[in-house]
Amino acid sequence: MCKKFRTLLFVLLIFNLQTQSQQKLSTTKVAAKEAFINDLMSKMTIDEKIGQLNLATAGYIHTGEATSSDIGQKIIDGKVGGILNLDSAERIKAVQEVAVTKSRLKIPLIFGMDVIHGYKTTFPIPLALASSWDMGLIEKMARISAQEASADGICWTYSPMVDISRDPRWGRVAESSGEDVFLGSKAAEAYVRGYQGDDLTKNNTIMACVKHFALYGAAEAGRDYNSTDMSLNRMYNEYLPPYKAAFDAGAGSAMSSFNDINGLPATANRWLMTDLLRNQWGFKGFVVTDFTAIEELVQHGLGDKQTVAALALHAGIDMDMVGETFLTTLKKSLQEGKVTEEEINQACRRILEAKYDLGLFDDPYKYCDVKRAKTELGTPEHMKVAREIASQTFVLLKNQNQLLPLKKNLKYAIVGPLADSKYDMVGTWAVGADRSKSVTVLQGFKNYLGKDAKIQFAKGCNMVEDKNLDKWTHWDGTSIDSTKTPEQLKNEALKIAKKSDVVIAVMGEGAEMSGECSSRSDISLPGNQEAFLKDLIKTGKPVVMVLFTGRPLTINWENENIPAILNVWFGGSQSGNAVADVVFGDVNPSGKLPMTFPQNVGQIPIYYNHKNTGRPLKEGEWFKKYRSNYLDVSNDPLYPFGYGLSYTTFNYDNFRLNKTQLSGNETLKASVTLSNTGKYDGAEVVQLYIRDVVGSITRPVKELKGFQKVFLKVGESKTITFDITPEDLKFYNNDLKYDWESGDFEIKIGGNSKDLKTATINWTK
Ligand code: BGC
Repeated sequence: MCKKFRTLLFVLLIFNLQTQSQQKLSTTKVAAKEAFINDLMSKMTIDEKIGQLNLATAGYIHTGEATSSDIGQKIIDGKVGGILNLDSAERIKAVQEVAVTKSRLKIPLIFGMDVIHGYKTTFPIPLALASSWDMGLIEKMARISAQEASADGICWTYSPMVDISRDPRWGRVAESSGEDVFLGSKAAEAYVRGYQGDDLTKNNTIMACVKHFALYGAAEAGRDYNSTDMSLNRMYNEYLPPYKAAFDAGAGSAMSSFNDINGLPATANRWLMTDLLRNQWGFKGFVVTDFTAIEELVQHGLGDKQTVAALALHAGIDMDMVGETFLTTLKKSLQEGKVTEEEINQACRRILEAKYDLGLFDDPYKYCDVKRAKTELGTPEHMKVAREIASQTFVLLKNQNQLLPLKKNLKYAIVGPLADSKYDMVGTWAVGADRSKSVTVLQGFKNYLGKDAKIQFAKGCNMVEDKNLDKWTHWDGTSIDSTKTPEQLKNEALKIAKKSDVVIAVMGEGAEMSGECSSRSDISLPGNQEAFLKDLIKTGKPVVMVLFTGRPLTINWENENIPAILNVWFGGSQSGNAVADVVFGDVNPSGKLPMTFPQNVGQIPIYYNHKNTGRPLKEGEWFKKYRSNYLDVSNDPLYPFGYGLSYTTFNYDNFRLNKTQLSGNETLKASVTLSNTGKYDGAEVVQLYIRDVVGSITRPVKELKGFQKVFLKVGESKTITFDITPEDLKFYNNDLKYDWESGDFEIKIGGNSKDLKTATINWTK
């Protein structure tokens, strides 16, 4: 036997032994866990088992109607499995102490919270994070969020929210990664990796909860909590993959959605929660409901409390968030034969397993290190990362005559209702944020330019004039300046605008105009903001609009009349500093839209990967009789999916494919030469789309299948290559078989979903 071969054999032997011992170790671990839980469950009464299924609120945040009372006694009585939205290591420690010292079996509680875009350090809203098209960045933000939340007692987050969102009227698009299934799936994985890390038992990782399962983003008319009715074909191809991606990445839990799905609400839907989630996808974690979602099944019309609780348990729900329907009815249902003990055991086991996986049985206080809470929250290092991340999420929508970046020695008039609003900078669902510390745009400019800065500020107009709308969307008092009339506010701003070299108009929605229960039927700039902008433009001064928003807006007039528009979504704690970094050119904007901006609400739903129809309109055309179009608006979006400008220009050239005829499992290489032809270094998101020209079912006009974010110095060129395999061509056919079909495919590459270079290939099986 030659020496080389002997070495190879030796290596293989060692590898095999290692793999075997790893397998043994994990089998031993699984067996130990099972034995522990079996033992514990053998000591539990049925009441204690049902108690584990109860997720109680500590009264910190109420989004539904029910609240729990006398929580402490319930914990002692073994009637609580976990607590929702309680913060602070000290408080959580005190509550945990009640569970592990005073309840009979001393089972630790699990503490969950909506840590969806940061904790004390608040990062940009998820829709903004998706605009970075940088999965490493999303993972990093989730990692820091986990570190901070876990330092403050929390071990479970209600994130990621992976609902595909195609309707900007729906306020919760702000919490999503937008309209695309490919981008959304990549983001879902990145969140889970970031929160859970490689070891959930560490004290600085937290368990992810994938929500809202499922199809919440397709709520009819964009109205929150509304019904979804969808074909299986659309579900499997366009809406379900991001949930699956998050589960495949190892997410430990899921949250049922509020909505009805084809006639059966998700929370009572056994097909969804058991057949699909567990039997088809093999999910092993536990499922919690959304806030009072079981109780709401009564309003859905599925029966009384006892009936709906039994339905939910039978569907596969393990934990009841806040409603206490399990707690108050399951025992009776068991006695009456309406649920089985096996069903209760199964739900209880899954919750105990999650607690075990988090290491809570080893050390129930592992997330309650008060010292960590003092040193690891909102640190300068985390804030620095938040500032860097925010600047990567901004999308430059317009930049006529290269108005941006601005010179540093001008006279600036900073105006607009969001210019100095600390409350609004962090956006929706920023439960851990200390809003008093947010950096506003005005402050960001002052920080950036230093003491000699020539800045004048005037609000100019209120965000909204409607007092009710203000009350519903500004929980912190009011955003309306009632000391001045609208005319006075405007005149002050026009006065400083006239004396300035450039006007920075910080406009848009308030933080809570998107998010939960913030649907809008008119998605233009709220209040009198557009009228104010018209007056500003009349001053003849160049105007830069810095746009805060949690959703795509219909800003046609602004697009036509304002020379520069920088969409900054809600950038988190460091918004203002990040805006200054971008506006003055230290950072070149590179964000690209993860959601289409419509021209008007009548176009909704509008998304780039639509079907062709039998009577399509040719690109660039407006109206044609007997074509699929509108009489009063073109089919084009205001800004397409994937769109975003840079201070520099990128040229796409030399688009080439290594083959045009392929068979079987070959790999197609699609390349393009990308050059930075402008005056600034910068990053571009190169996007790959594929169209399956002929299929057994109709296929979208294009689908995102890859992207690469590439940084190029001025004058630099790079060849960008995508490897395409049959895996990228697969879809669910009408028998829900996931496969690809032979035929022609259009391969498209470009910098947004509209401006693409295209070539056709043929690929046979
Ligand atoms: C929301 C969820 C959230 C839960 C707990 C509900 O109202 O729909 O997204 O996780 O409250 O706060």
